[in-house]
Amino acid sequence: MYARAATTVALLGAGALVLPLSTAAAQPGSAPTSAPASSAAARHDRPLVVAHRGASAQAPENTFAAIDRARELGFTWVENDVQRTRDGELVIMHDDTLKRTTNVEALYPDRAPWKVADFTAKEIARLDAGSWFSPKYAGQRVPTLKQYLRRVSHNHQKLVFEFKRPELYPGIEKQGLRVLRDTGWLDRHHVTGKLVVQSFSADSVKKVHALRPDVKTGFLGTPAVADLPKYARFADQINSTHTSISGSYVSAIHARKGPHGKPLEIFTWTVNDGPAAVRAARFGVNGIITNTPDVVRKALRDS
Ligand code: G3P
Ligand code: CA
Repeated sequence: MYARAATTVALLGAGALVLPLSTAAAQPGSAPTSAPASSAAARHDRPLVVAHRGASAQAPENTFAAIDRARELGFTWVENDVQRTRDGELVIMHDDTLKRTTNVEALYPDRAPWKVADFTAKEIARLDAGSWFSPKYAGQRVPTLKQYLRRVSHNHQKLVFEFKRPELYPGIEKQGLRVLRDTGWLDRHHVTGKLVVQSFSADSVKKVHALRPDVKTGFLGTPAVADLPKYARFADQINSTHTSISGSYVSAIHARKGPHGKPLEIFTWTVNDGPAAVRAARFGVNGIITNTPDVVRKALRDS
C-alpha cells in the first residue's frame, strides 16, 4: 500500500530534491529525541519541549514575535503551519482563512471567506497579524516561509514544520522542500537534528519521505497499533494528541523502527498545563508540543 522511498527516488531523476540513499540511510534523529521513550522514561530523561506556533500563549501565533518569544524563554524548538497564497507563495498560517489571526476583514471587507488561497502574497503582506492578540503586537506580519526560515536560523532555533491542509495545495510538498533546500534547511546539519516535517495527511508525509528520504518526518494522528507498521515505512514520528495516548501506546510506538532504522518517536500535543505534561512525560514521550513551553518546562523540572 505504501510506496517504498527508493522507488520514488528512482522516479524523480536528476535535479530533484533527493539525496543518495546511502546518505539517507545515515540520518538519525537528534540526540534528545532519538532515545526510545521507554528507556528515556526509565532514565528520567525529559521530553523535548516544542513551542507550538511559537510561544503562542504569550505572542501571536506563527509570527516572528512568537518564535522570538520562544527564544527569549530559552526554547530552541518551534512548530509552525505552512499554506500557499493565490500566487504561489508559501506563508505561515494555521487556519485556511485569514480571518481569526489578522485584520483581513477590515482591510478587505468584500473578500469573504478570506481564504489564504484567495489572496496574493502582496495582499497578505499588508495584514496585521498581531493586533488580534494584543495591541502590543500591532504590526506583526504573516511571514512568508522564506522569511520565517531565515528568522528561525537567525534565532539558532529548530523547526517542526507542518504542511497544513496539503490537500488544498497540490504540489506543496515539493515546493516546500525546495524552499527548505534553498534556505539551507536541507543540508546534513539541518536534517540530522534541526528539522521534522509533519502533516495530518499520510499522503503528504509519504510524499515528503519519497522526495527527501533523509528528512525526518512525523504523522499527526493516533493510528491503531496494528497499523503502525504501515506508518513506520515513511514516518519517523507518530505525533498524537495527549488525550489520545497511554503508556502502552507510547511503548507500542517505540517498539517499531521507522524508515531510518531508529525506534519511532512521539511528540504529543497540545499540552498546556503541568499535570498533563507530567503525565505525558511519564508515558515516555519524546517531545511535548505546547503553547506554554515555560509552564511545561517548570512542571517537568518539578516532577
Ligand atoms: O504540532 C501539532 C499540532 O500543531 C497539530 O495541530 O491544528 O495546532 O496544527 P494544529
Ligand atoms: Ca500545527
